[in-house]
Amino acid sequence: MPDNDNVLLEVRGLKTHFPAPAGTVRAVDGVDLTVRAGKTLCVVGESGCGKSMTARSLMQLVEPPGKIVAGEVLLHRRHETIDLAGLSPRGRKIREVRGRDIAMIFQEPMTSLSLVHRIGDQLIEAIRVHRDVGKRQAREQAIELLAKVGIPRPDKLVDGYPFQLSGGMRQRAMIAMALSCEPDLLIADEPTTALDVTTQAQIMELLAELQRELGMAILLITHDLGVVAEMADEVAVMYLGTVVEQAPVDDIFHDPRHPYTRALLKSIPRVGRAARHRLESISGAVPSPHDRPTGCPFHPRCPEVMPGRCDTEVPTAVRLGADRHASCLLHEPMIPSQTRGSVADDR
Ligand SMILES: Nc1ncnc2c1ncn2[C@@H]1O[C@H](COP(=O)(O)OP(=O)(O)OP(=O)(O)O)[C@@H](O)[C@H]1O
Ligand SMILES: [Mg+2]
Repeated sequence: MPDNDNVLLEVRGLKTHFPAPAGTVRAVDGVDLTVRAGKTLCVVGESGCGKSMTARSLMQLVEPPGKIVAGEVLLHRRHETIDLAGLSPRGRKIREVRGRDIAMIFQEPMTSLSLVHRIGDQLIEAIRVHRDVGKRQAREQAIELLAKVGIPRPDKLVDGYPFQLSGGMRQRAMIAMALSCEPDLLIADEPTTALDVTTQAQIMELLAELQRELGMAILLITHDLGVVAEMADEVAVMYLGTVVEQAPVDDIFHDPRHPYTRALLKSIPRVGRAARHRLESISGAVPSPHDRPTGCPFHPRCPEVMPGRCDTEVPTAVRLGADRHASCLLHEPMIPSQTRGSVADDR
């Protein structure tokens, strides 16, 4: 559903499954989302709905036996479009994308920083992978990057080790690593969950500032609706491995069109006071990933369920405006041949 030429990444029907003795885990099961150049897309949804696995799938970082089994991840570069889902996870092409187009930061900085190597050496190595510069120049650039992410005395810290830094400063160093490749897209998977509230706010402010300066898009996974309100241009709401709705942030808060989005927002006293509220669970339990409901995955918990329809028909993404879509049968016209009377119903 590309609606303008600012689309940087288009994800269509992405599925990532894990074969397991008890049955296949459908961690990502038909994700549709769009990231626009220079904009922030926040991805929200209850624990286990597939946010992290979606992010890892975009970069082909799924650990075996997990595997992308369907869908497209279209990266629009200036003169070409590449389907990242079709690339080999260990091939040269995806490594080039990870080093040049897309970078990722995680909740735990030590997943991308080594404790036993100097911060500067790690940055210099990362810089020299992407840029054709000598050691001395790379060191200068490393110091610049550390300054850019707000690390004090960067000319001293460049020779320090990550374990000498506080949690917030380590997170800043990780962001510097991610920025070393000047990505068009930064994927941040709950980058501040482990930090105190003040440091969280500082890191978010830093990301927003860097975005303004560098013009990169951000895909931000978060549980915090206050962060969504502050950071997002658009929001994608996930449920059981699918994106049930994507829309501009104001529409999500003021005119949610999917019953799941509405239920999520109801769990917050008032949007204006959403500042530090986390997403609450809504009534009913999230089904086990081994035991997905038939039809719409949300129908057993949905207050607007249409019996006989929602339990049999799988909703597809319906376009509800230039930049929004929702996967809900409330928005799909009833097609006679798709209604009652299937073999499964009659039993
Ligand atoms: N290595 C794995 N093998 C099998 N299943 C997995 C594996 N990793 C994740 N899953 C399953 O994939 C589903 C999605 O997990 P994911 O980590 O993407 O959720 P999430 O939305 O990021 O949750 P959280 O908010 O808790 O971080 C879960 O049901 C999880 O149990
Ligand atoms: Mg996660």
